[in-house]
Amino acid sequence: MSKVKKISRWLGIILGVLLLLILVGYGFIYLSTEQRMNRKYSFSEPALIIPTDSVAIVKGKHLYQIRSCADCHGPNLAGGVFMNSALLMQLSAPNLTKGPGGLPPDFTTQDWLRVLRHGVDKNGRSLWMMPAHESTGLSQEDMASLIAYCQSVPPVVSAGKKRRQMGPLGRVVLQLNQVAVLPAERINHQVPMAASAPKDVTAYGQYLATVCQGCHRPNMKGGAPLAPGFPPVPDISATGVQQQWSEAQFISTIRQGKTPAGKLLRQEFMPWQNMQHFTDEELSAIRSYLVSLK
Ligand code: HEC
Ligand code: HEC
Repeated sequence: MSKVKKISRWLGIILGVLLLLILVGYGFIYLSTEQRMNRKYSFSEPALIIPTDSVAIVKGKHLYQIRSCADCHGPNLAGGVFMNSALLMQLSAPNLTKGPGGLPPDFTTQDWLRVLRHGVDKNGRSLWMMPAHESTGLSQEDMASLIAYCQSVPPVVSAGKKRRQMGPLGRVVLQLNQVAVLPAERINHQVPMAASAPKDVTAYGQYLATVCQGCHRPNMKGGAPLAPGFPPVPDISATGVQQQWSEAQFISTIRQGKTPAGKLLRQEFMPWQNMQHFTDEELSAIRSYLVSLK
């Protein structure tokens, strides 16, 4: 055999073995993610009385905005495309009214609680990318107002068609566990709802700041970029630069999208424009929580 033939034979064997390893690896990921996606959750959820007065509905609208529901389900609840990538996933955030393509006519308050408290579909399987691990801790009072508002919005036509397909890279992301793909896995389904939001300012700040955790991490100390091409996520706890800012500077950073040092925050990475609905009092509570995190 010539030298060239020998080398190409070895190259062929190495490539074959590599391909086999990749296939076996992907097969493993496929089976383990399939099992997690099909896991069924059971729990009992006491009934919740939903108010119909205008005060509760106005409060519910505010919660819809500051709990970032609007970021994915749109300001008028018509829903939209969450992700449209055959490799990662194809997923829509559904229309939350009972208009065409929206919630089924028999979607009850108990169904709302199933989604917002437990993050599962009607078969008990985890929803995808719906951050129920952030809404599960809402107090009875806030939960009732939020549902009251959503149920009061007149039916609208869906913004897009329904999609729900997991791609091969999506399964790898799920396997790596860095992103909350399956919210039901991150919820303790036995914890009952608190009657009302915490009264203590710092505890109330923590209650509000759950919406920052997905990006700034549960300890608010930031970390690696959320996706390739994104900036690293800064530390916003007491060990971050922002502890040197006054409360007014913190609030103005969120309102203007510009830090005291003049750095512009980019809306596509740090959605400060969507945070305009927080009141000064709420932002001040968030700050008092952040600076308490040593
Ligand atoms: C990061 C984007 C995102 C945010 C923020 C978000 N959702 Fe969702 N939501 C989704 C996606 C995506 C689905 C569909 C999940 C699926 O099909 O597995 C969903 C599903 C739902 C459903 C189930 C609808 C059905 O057809 O069964 C309800 C109800 C819902 N969301 C309400 C809310 C409310 C209320 C908020 C705010 C507290 C909220 N969502 C915040 C993305 C989001
Ligand atoms: C979708 C992801 C995401 C969410 C949600 C988010 N942030 Fe950020 N945040 C970022 C990223 C990324 C940056 C860096 C932005 C840049 O470099 O343009 C940032 C920057 C900041 C900064 C500037 C810090 C500095 O040192 O420059 C502050 C303050 C901040 N975020 C506070 C918050 C608060 C408070 C919340 C919740 C109410 C929040 N963020 C929610 C991703 C997020």
